[in-house]
Amino acid sequence: MLQNTLLILSLLIGIGVCSCRVEVKRNEEAHMQTQALNTNPTHFNPQVPPLPLTSSKRFEGSSEFVKLKYHMGPVLSSPINIYLIWYGKWPQSQKLLIKDFLLSISTRSAPSPSVADWWTTVSLYTDQTGANISRSVSIAGEYADLRYSHGTHLTRLSVQEVIATAVQAKPFPVDHRNGIYLILTAEDVTVEDFCRAVCGFHYFTFPSKVGYTLPYAWVGNSGKQCPEVCAYPFAVPGYMGGGGPGHLTPPNDNVGVDGMLSVIGHELAELSSNPLVNAWYAGEDPTAPTEIGDLCEGLYGSGGGGGYIGSVMKDGQGRTFNLNGRNGRKFLVQWIWSPVLKACAGPNALD
Ligand SMILES: *[C@@H]1O[C@H](CO)[C@@H](O)[C@H](O)[C@H]1NC(C)=O
Repeated sequence: MLQNTLLILSLLIGIGVCSCRVEVKRNEEAHMQTQALNTNPTHFNPQVPPLPLTSSKRFEGSSEFVKLKYHMGPVLSSPINIYLIWYGKWPQSQKLLIKDFLLSISTRSAPSPSVADWWTTVSLYTDQTGANISRSVSIAGEYADLRYSHGTHLTRLSVQEVIATAVQAKPFPVDHRNGIYLILTAEDVTVEDFCRAVCGFHYFTFPSKVGYTLPYAWVGNSGKQCPEVCAYPFAVPGYMGGGGPGHLTPPNDNVGVDGMLSVIGHELAELSSNPLVNAWYAGEDPTAPTEIGDLCEGLYGSGGGGGYIGSVMKDGQGRTFNLNGRNGRKFLVQWIWSPVLKACAGPNALD
């Protein structure tokens, strides 16, 4: 997360809750996607340079100091309809990869450890009526903003205008009961605070901007702009020089998009458990909440921490992953704080 001043400022102008990392230099190229063919994955716990975070919001494993609390607001307990907004030019192959990840949340048939197993941790959160977060997630609509309707630079407020443009366009409905709106910006789109302080954020729209209060999240493709910040650990900060541990090979051979998928997972988990920023979060200050994804940022398996990301898997070509999805896809997605274990958890845990 970012500095308190930044967050308070951002809340004042209506923005929200983010997956934030500090600035470092860029140097990694995105590669074309090819389908992985994994036979016997091997487990390993790679050492990588520490995630360049500004604050102590990361809790590697269990902690007595984490006081995650429920603040009586709603969670997304009805089947979740995702409305996707592709902002800018998105190659079809990248769209399919991201949609496969989203649809994997409800795909129970993928081999274990699966994305659906990973969402189990999220579904343990309940509202005051005892209703759990839904395990049913579907893509209810898509809108391609190919003409960059609000320019190639978005501010935190103009992100809401992009949603307004999309909901006004057919066939994109206003679904304020079950809908969440996910704006994904292409790698040539710059966004206020992207790379410098955030990789993604979630919040809700203002009636004055969009006409309704709609929970939404934004995540940007960092492949060209700052993979070391937002596509970690597929790109790592350059300050380690030549002698330090290196970056990992992404599961779908696309540094920017594979990096986005973990941020999308992070934001969806937080959006579902804290859609109006009055449900599940830690910390006394509601303008700077620490949410269920923040608590486990940079942690992908058992034995993580102190420069290790945790025990994950590697296929025959060295591609790193921790989750299986639909269509034989593999993903590397950060763990989520479990309200039951009171620790970061994921389905690839070594027991
Ligand atoms: C709902 O959440 C509770 C509390 O975390 C958990 O014990 C229960 O297993 C969950 N139920 C479902 C259907 O996920």
